[in-house]
Amino acid sequence: MYKTKTCGELTAQDVAQVVKLAGWVHRRRDHGGLIFIDLRDRFGLTQVVFNPQTAPEAHAVGSQVRNEYVLEVEGTVEKRPAGQENPALKTGEIEVYASGAKILNTAKVPPFVINKNDDVDETLRLTYRYLDLRRERMQKNMMLRHRVVKFMRDWLDERGFIEIETPILTKSTPEGARDYLVPSRMSPGEFYALPQSPQQFKQLLMIAGYERYFQIARCMRDEDLRADRQPEFTQLDLEMAFVEQEDILNLVEELFIALVKRLAPDRKMKTPWPRFTYDEVMAKYGSDKPDLRFGMELTDVSDIAAASGFSVFKNAVQAGGQVKGICVPSCAEYTRRELDELIEMARSKGAKGAVTMALRADGIHSPAGKFMTAEEQGAYVERLGGQTGDLLVFVADARKIVSEALGFLRRELGARLKLADKNALAFAWVVDFPMFEWNQEEERWDAAHHPFTSPKPEDIHLLDTDPGAVRANSYDMVCNGYELASGSIRIHDRELQAKIFSLLKIDAERQQIRFGHMLEAFEFGAPPHGGMAPGIDRFVAILSGEDNIRDVIAFPKNQQAQDLMMHAPSDVDQDQLDLLHLQIVHPSA
Ligand code: AMO
Ligand code: AMP
Repeated sequence: MYKTKTCGELTAQDVAQVVKLAGWVHRRRDHGGLIFIDLRDRFGLTQVVFNPQTAPEAHAVGSQVRNEYVLEVEGTVEKRPAGQENPALKTGEIEVYASGAKILNTAKVPPFVINKNDDVDETLRLTYRYLDLRRERMQKNMMLRHRVVKFMRDWLDERGFIEIETPILTKSTPEGARDYLVPSRMSPGEFYALPQSPQQFKQLLMIAGYERYFQIARCMRDEDLRADRQPEFTQLDLEMAFVEQEDILNLVEELFIALVKRLAPDRKMKTPWPRFTYDEVMAKYGSDKPDLRFGMELTDVSDIAAASGFSVFKNAVQAGGQVKGICVPSCAEYTRRELDELIEMARSKGAKGAVTMALRADGIHSPAGKFMTAEEQGAYVERLGGQTGDLLVFVADARKIVSEALGFLRRELGARLKLADKNALAFAWVVDFPMFEWNQEEERWDAAHHPFTSPKPEDIHLLDTDPGAVRANSYDMVCNGYELASGSIRIHDRELQAKIFSLLKIDAERQQIRFGHMLEAFEFGAPPHGGMAPGIDRFVAILSGEDNIRDVIAFPKNQQAQDLMMHAPSDVDQDQLDLLHLQIVHPSA
C-alpha cells in the first residue's frame, strides 16, 4: 500500500498517528538543517518535515527530490509549533515527521510552474495538458464539473428520469453546424456523421415510450470556434413525453436553482427567474442572451425623434425605423477619440453612425446638438434617466439594426465599465422565438432552432403566408450573457413535420432520404413531447468564473480545433486510406 491517508485529511485529531502518504513534491524548502516538503495529491497538501538528526536516511531522500517528483513518505503526525499553523490549509494544524521516504519517480523541470496559479501561455498549457491539470485552478474546475454532473444525474434519477446512451456513429442530426464525417470501411463511399446532438434519438426514445430521458451527451459540430464554443462539447440532454413548455421550464429551473444552492450557495441569484419573450429581450437589450446583471437598457425615443430638427432621427422614424438610446454611466468625459470608437462599434453592426450626448456639468455636449432644441434634448435626457456625468448614445435605423448596434454597445460598455456583479448569476428564460430565420445567401428559410421544433398552434395559419411571423414553441435559458440551454416542444405529427421540411426547402425525396425514419416513426403513435439541452461546459465555466470553456474541459481543442497534446488531427497511413477507399486531394496553395 502506497498510502494510508491522503494529503488532504490529517488534522490535529490525528496527532501521534503513524501514516503513509504518497504524492507529488509541490514545494520544497531546505532550511539547511530541516527540509520541508509540501506533498500534494488530488485531495490536498500536507507538510512533511525531514530531520537530519532523527531520520538521516529519510532526510537524504528529502534532499534529493525536486518539484514534481513522486514521493512516498512514512512518518508521524505532529502538531505544528504554535504560530506555525496555516489556517488556509485543511491540514494546516499538523505536519508529518518523515521516518522513511522513497522516490517513486523523478520529474524533469516542468515547462511552467505548477505550484502557482500564474498566467501561462495557453499553447504550452494545452501541449502539456497533463501538467496543467495538476494545477489547483484546473483541479478545482474538474472537481466542480464532476459535482455538477453528479448532482444532475442524482436529481433527475430521483424524478424518474433514466439515462440512455445514444450512438456516436450515426446520421446527420442538423443543429445548424457542419457535420463531422466518419468514412465507412464496410460501405465504401458512405459516411457516418457524428451527432451534433442526440436530438432525433431522444425523440425516438419518446416514441419508444421512455417518457423521461436524459443523457450527459457529447455533441460534435464542425463550426468556427469561440471562447464559448468547442468542436466537441457536453450537454445535459433531456426529453419528456406528455409535457408542455411550462413543464420543461419549471423542471429545468428547479434543477438549476437546486444546483446553485448546493454547489455555489454564495452566488447571488434572483428566483423565480424572470421570463421574457424574444421580442422583449431584443427591444430591451438588443440581444437574445442579455446579461441581466446590469441595466443600460435600450430606450425607445422614436416618438420624440419623429419631430426632431435633426434629419437623421426624423427620417429614420418616417422610414418606419426607430431611434433608441442607452445611458452609459459616468462616461460624459469621454474624449473625441473614445466617442469615435463608440460610433465605429455601432457602424460595425450595420448602423450608419451614432449620436452621443455627454451630460456634463456645463451642459449637454452633442455633435447633433445644434439641430435640436433644448427642449428636445431635455426630453431625451429625461426618457433615458440621464444624470450629470452620463453619456447618452443614440442610433437611428431600421429596428433590427438599432437593436444589434445598441445591443453590441451595451455589451461592450458593460464589460469595459465592469458593470456586472461577478458574484451574481442572472438567469432568465427567453420564450417565443421566431420559428424561421431568412437565409439571404441561400434565399430560403432556416429553422431558428432546429427543424423538429413545433410552431405555436395559433401561428400555424401563417406558415403559408408569412413564415417570418411564425413563432415557435422554443425557449432558451440564459445566464450572465450566455445562452446556456435551448429547447422546444417538438412536432409529433407527420404532416406538420413534412410541411416544415418543405418550408426549409427540403423536397419530398430528400426528406425521405434524410428523415424518412422520423416521419415514419411519427405514424406509430408518437406522443406529444419536448425537451431541452443545457450546455455543461458553459454552465461550469460560469460557475467557476472562467471566461473560456476550455478551462473547464480536461482535454479541449484549441481555436484551430487541434488537440495540441495528442497532435490531432493528423495524417494517416496510405493503407488506412486504401481500406476506406479514400483519396486525398490537397488544397492547392
Ligand atoms: P443547441 O444547439 O441550442 O440545442 O445546444 C444547446 C446548448 O448546448 C451548448 N452548446 C455548446 N457548447 C459549447 N460548444 C458548442 N459548440 C456548443 N453548441 C451548443 C449551449 C447551447 O445552449 N438538440 C437541441 C436541444 C433541444 O432542442 O433539446 C440542441 O442541441 O449551451
Ligand atoms: P453625418 O451626417 O453622417 O455627418 O452624421 C452626423 C452625426 O450623426 C454623426 O455623429 C453620426 O455618427 C451620426 N449618425 C449618422 N447616422 C446615424 C444614425 N442612423 N443613427 C444615429 N446616428 C447617426
